[in-house]
Amino acid sequence: PVITFIEHNGTEHRVEAPVGSTAMQAAVNNGVPGVLADCGGSCSCATCHGYVDEMWTGSLSSAKADELDMLGGALDMKHNSRLTCQILLTAAMDGLIIRLPESQI
Ligand code: FES
Repeated sequence: PVITFIEHNGTEHRVEAPVGSTAMQAAVNNGVPGVLADCGGSCSCATCHGYVDEMWTGSLSSAKADELDMLGGALDMKHNSRLTCQILLTAAMDGLIIRLPESQI
C-alpha cells in the first residue's frame, strides 16, 4: 500500500510499503523524519508514535494492551494515537494517512 506520513510541520511523505510490513518500517525505510523507532519495533519505546487520520481509525485493528501501556508514556497522546510499529500493513490500507507528533521524546 501507499502510505502518507505528514510531519508536524506539514511536510508530506508518500511511501510505498509491502503488505505485511509495519507502518514504522515504511517510515524508517524511506527516511521519513520524526519516527525514531528506538526499540526496532518491539513495542517497548513509544518513539514511533503517530496519529492515524480520522478517516482510518475505524478500519485499523485496535491497539492491544501492551501498545496502550507504551502509548501512555508517549508525548501528547491523543485518541487516535498509535505506535506505528504495531500497525501491520494490508492491501486495504492503501491511502492510509499518519500524522507525526512534534517530538517523540
Ligand atoms: Fe519502539 Fe514502536 S518502535 S514501540
